Amino acid sequence: MSGKLSRRSGAVDPFIVMDVMAAAAEKEAAGDAVIHLEVGQPSTPAPKGALAAARAALDSDRIGYVAALGIPALRERISRHYREFYGADVPAERVIVTTGSSGGFPLAFLACFDAGDRVALAAPGYPAYRNILAALNLEAVDLPTSAADRFQPTVAALEKAGRIDGLILASPSNPTGTMVDRAELKALADWCQRNGVRLISDEIYHGIVYEGETASAVEVSDSAVVVNSFSKYFSMTGWRIGWLVVPPDLVRPIERLTQNFFISVPTLSQHAALAAFECRDELDGHVRRYRINRDLLMAGLPTAGFDRLTPAQGAFYIYADVSHLTNDSREFCSRMLREAGVATTPGVDFDRARGTGTLRISFAGSTAEMEDAVRRLKAWQRT
Ligand SMILES: Cc1ncc(COP(=O)(O)O)c(C=O)c1O
Repeated sequence: MSGKLSRRSGAVDPFIVMDVMAAAAEKEAAGDAVIHLEVGQPSTPAPKGALAAARAALDSDRIGYVAALGIPALRERISRHYREFYGADVPAERVIVTTGSSGGFPLAFLACFDAGDRVALAAPGYPAYRNILAALNLEAVDLPTSAADRFQPTVAALEKAGRIDGLILASPSNPTGTMVDRAELKALADWCQRNGVRLISDEIYHGIVYEGETASAVEVSDSAVVVNSFSKYFSMTGWRIGWLVVPPDLVRPIERLTQNFFISVPTLSQHAALAAFECRDELDGHVRRYRINRDLLMAGLPTAGFDRLTPAQGAFYIYADVSHLTNDSREFCSRMLREAGVATTPGVDFDRARGTGTLRISFAGSTAEMEDAVRRLKAWQRT
């Protein structure tokens, strides 16, 4: 007899991009070159200053457990970041260091919602939101978006969503790179406030922005939970470190949860993250490269038959409508990988219902790789 399996873990879907990465690795193991446009992470390591701080901490620090909410110096530095970057006053007491933003989501969801609560989110969107919600017995309520609303939720869409308890917003968005401006963010935050809906604002791609204004929910709402990370702009994915900004009444509930779930966040990563704030020149250099890559693909992909592209305002993704080329994005992506050696992510990862006709192209790699990808796709198109 086998042991019990929970229904809620069965409700969690796989992350399909992981399957694409496995197929790409198999092709490479067979000796073929693959251009990786499927990856959702910077191709660069942590900035030099962060690496130096980590090396120094290894020699000088015990790397033991630390305070559940994060080391005070890092919470203070994040608070200063809000003053410098957004001109916003966010006391360090409201900053909570987390194990990547991924570690922040379950803490925020558990502190804000009860089992059965309904949380709205844009489709297409980052798949882990709905999967974490499912694992916690929370109901994800899709807000289908389109190019007309720049793939972002609107007040009109919220009015039609029925009773909801929360809204997850991601600006810039994964997979579309689109953003809400300050006025739109304020309208959404005000609607949430009026209706007793908790706004969760995923700001993990802040810092990687090419056009438009970068507004944080802390500027327009006293009740929003802001999620951020050192993974993207700071180029520190594997260090698994991020943060939350929460209203004062959520600090203690989240402290209790994190004490019990994690004890504390990796100490070495906290030392490194603290130093990463002083590495802006290096990090801004990465953003300049992403911009060059974005422009190169926006100009080059149409010559290869991909001409229905969402211009990314931020992040490092282009969402491509390929419904004129396929009605099965999974099959299309695996054929593109097999025949052209270019790996991309099928849209069904981000939009179960409508992603059969879309794919996500990541331009986080090198500019030479982007040029090679366009060359390969043009040749593939001719076959
Ligand atoms: C929109 C969004 N939020 C959150 C995450 C999770 O990132 P991390 O846990 O590394 O902070 C990702 C990762 O790709 C993402 O794209």
